[in-house]
Amino acid sequence: MKRRLYIAGARIGTSREVFSGGLLLEEGRIARIDREGEPCRIPEGCETVDAGGKVLLPGGVDVHTHFDLDVGFARASDDFYTGTVAAACGGTTAVVDHMAFGPKGCALSHQVEVYRRLAEDAVIDYGFHGVIQHVDEQVLADMAVLLENEGIASHKVYMTYDYGLGDEEILRVLERAAELGLTICAHCENDGMLRHFRKRYRRQGKLSARYHPLSRPPQAEAEAVFRFLQLARAAGDARAYVVHLSSREALETLAFVREGGQENVFAETCPQYLLLEDSLYDDDREGLKYIMSPPLRKGADREVLWDALGRDALDTVGTDHCPFFFATQKQRGAKDFTQCPNGAPGVELRYALLFSEGYRQGRLTLPQLVRLCATRPAQLFGLAPRKGDIAVGADADLVLFDPDLRWTVSGDSLHENVDYTPYEGLCLTGKPVMTIAGGEVLVKEGTFLGRKGRGRYVKRTPAT
Ligand code: URP
Ligand code: ZN
Repeated sequence: MKRRLYIAGARIGTSREVFSGGLLLEEGRIARIDREGEPCRIPEGCETVDAGGKVLLPGGVDVHTHFDLDVGFARASDDFYTGTVAAACGGTTAVVDHMAFGPKGCALSHQVEVYRRLAEDAVIDYGFHGVIQHVDEQVLADMAVLLENEGIASHKVYMTYDYGLGDEEILRVLERAAELGLTICAHCENDGMLRHFRKRYRRQGKLSARYHPLSRPPQAEAEAVFRFLQLARAAGDARAYVVHLSSREALETLAFVREGGQENVFAETCPQYLLLEDSLYDDDREGLKYIMSPPLRKGADREVLWDALGRDALDTVGTDHCPFFFATQKQRGAKDFTQCPNGAPGVELRYALLFSEGYRQGRLTLPQLVRLCATRPAQLFGLAPRKGDIAVGADADLVLFDPDLRWTVSGDSLHENVDYTPYEGLCLTGKPVMTIAGGEVLVKEGTFLGRKGRGRYVKRTPAT
């Protein structure tokens, strides 16, 4: 007996169009798409969900999470179980996680082995971006081995932090990536500028949260974005993906490079840079909640980022989900913001925030929302065509939104394993009411129904 589910009476949004109809799900895949007006053939005895005209979208793909991230002095509070339950409750059905740095000098495969174990309890499908923390012939050779053996089709380099790489190292990585068709993600901030401002504020005793954004100005981001993309150009238009782009200056740099004809340049922004701003750091106590890098920017930056999404000038919206408890872990920065673990939660709310503030506010069409939250991330990181869109043969990973439900975000009702949400009190229109993964109803009306460990590791292939 085939495992089947029919979803009837939905308003279906794909990366290209919106139409009314139904879907037959069979053995975890989308077996048929019935458009309104065509005969709707529900197989006899098939379990049916009546969508009642609600909006059915592909399950979200979040290519920027940090589950269980170990930063040495603190560990991100969501592990792969709690984090993927939260993701599923928010309509996200696949993640590609950015792994933590390993021990100094470790092999490229070291963290993959660690993370294969950490992720065993995941409830949605997942992959990992490799992390390159030093560069030598072995690491460059291992990039091919990891692609072949583990399906690691992307890696991340940092331009700051303890294992930040220099230009020569990044160039070597990009050249190798170009040979192999891999994508290199970069955390772009100019390390020298950051060190300079941190030293200055420390000297001046200016150590409260409000100095965090001042110590990481948009110029530091834009300069590093420019350099990263020039290095990618010099490497033969290697596939270069800027993570968590946050500022007008960085966006203009991206546009400049693209207008110059450079190919394979991609960029992500995050909900926090679209919806929150740097005045939140003015409260010395609460400001710790928003210590992340890059920091929150000005209202004007938010507007240009929204505008860029509407013009298809940015590719994806990821979360950079990296939660730490406010009452305990974040307090490490109470007397010195430089000691605060960087990062904030967001994996559960991404799709709803973009649905409400993007689509329902008229800033994005439904296909644009789908492309940003599902299709493009899946395409860029080698999860497509199985994931990221609604098509016959694709995985039956779906989310049903009640488009008119008005609700107020409350951290207490979320599934993220942390004691706050940066979006507390925000009034939204539209909410995920059902998540289906692999043809299985995983979340219904906010209740998680799935099994621990049901998520599968996805071996990815280089994007074409
Ligand atoms: O502040 C952030 N973004 N923390 C997570 C690690 C990173 O830099 O992406
Ligand atoms: Zn990150």
